[in-house]
Amino acid sequence: MRVDLRSDTVTVPTEKMRKAMYEAEVGDDVFGEDPTVNRLQELAAEICGREAALFVPSGTMANQVCVRVQAPRGSEVILEEESHIFLHEVGGLAALAQVQTRLLKGVKGIIQPRDLIPLFRPSGDIHAPRTSLVCIEQTSMMAGGTIYPLETIKEICDLTHERGARVHMDGARLFNAAVASGISPRDFAQPVDSLMFCLSKGLGCPVGSMIVGDKDFIEEARVARKLYGGGMRQAGVLAACGIVALTEMVDRLAEDHEKARIIAEAIEGSPIVDPEWNRPQTNIIIFPLKEPRAGELVQKLAQRGVLCLDLDDRRIRMVTHKDVSFEEVRFAAEVLGELLH
Ligand SMILES: Cc1ncc(COP(=O)(O)O)c(C=O)c1O
Repeated sequence: MRVDLRSDTVTVPTEKMRKAMYEAEVGDDVFGEDPTVNRLQELAAEICGREAALFVPSGTMANQVCVRVQAPRGSEVILEEESHIFLHEVGGLAALAQVQTRLLKGVKGIIQPRDLIPLFRPSGDIHAPRTSLVCIEQTSMMAGGTIYPLETIKEICDLTHERGARVHMDGARLFNAAVASGISPRDFAQPVDSLMFCLSKGLGCPVGSMIVGDKDFIEEARVARKLYGGGMRQAGVLAACGIVALTEMVDRLAEDHEKARIIAEAIEGSPIVDPEWNRPQTNIIIFPLKEPRAGELVQKLAQRGVLCLDLDDRRIRMVTHKDVSFEEVRFAAEVLGELLH
């Protein structure tokens, strides 16, 4: 058996998606003339209860476009120290938006409002950069898919807006957060200035992310998307999958969370795992070892058919998704249990 738990990005499109791709009505989306892209954008905006949305090729481009539009060159962007935008987007904030970053450590990846307040630069100081943007990540990937509580998001947005800055949500796994918490994507989307979510992870699309926000912001984002080479033409073949994802693939994410709990049970009580590890709240399991042996353990798991990733020399990540069955998950849990106990 081979069980691929490296990422939820390994998911492949469903039969319905492939059929939708085949049948998709298309046009030139740079001219705004692809009816399927337009439908997907309207649907995404409606689900999030916001004015408009924009289809982009990747989550990375979505984040980079949102920063580019909202953070002027030379301004400062506040991020959690292990956020995807800071760690895993190839230095895009420096290379593309040309902004300065200011980092803080969250609690289980979640930025605490009280820790954020002192990081805003004083206005009127000629020496200081201007704080333009705060980025939050829903769910917080490197902390093990932890969920930003809605109250925390509201508090962060209120205090950030009071100080004249904006908030962007990297909601790559927004729907995992929504399904696990019972809070609607619309509620999570209300307080922030911009948000993106990925279609190509747990929702199973081959390609694509959505940027969501006010109309004026989305118009600017469309320009930045073109600048970054993300203006696609007959993109309706891809957008068609997005429509299937948003209408049919959201509720089933609960299964992925159940699968994560099965794997977590195999880790529980292991003498070689740090007992303080964050138990999974969604579909991501990250557990730290007491000794720096993550690479070795990942290799042993791979030899037994269980694929996962070492994030550094102590931390191992497993991600559940639609393309691993419960049977495969139970097999992976058994192998993991044997190696950890
Ligand atoms: C939290 C988070 N944000 C953004 C991204 C970027 O998405 P993409 O791989 O589509 O560029 C990822 C993808 O792994 C992610 O986990």
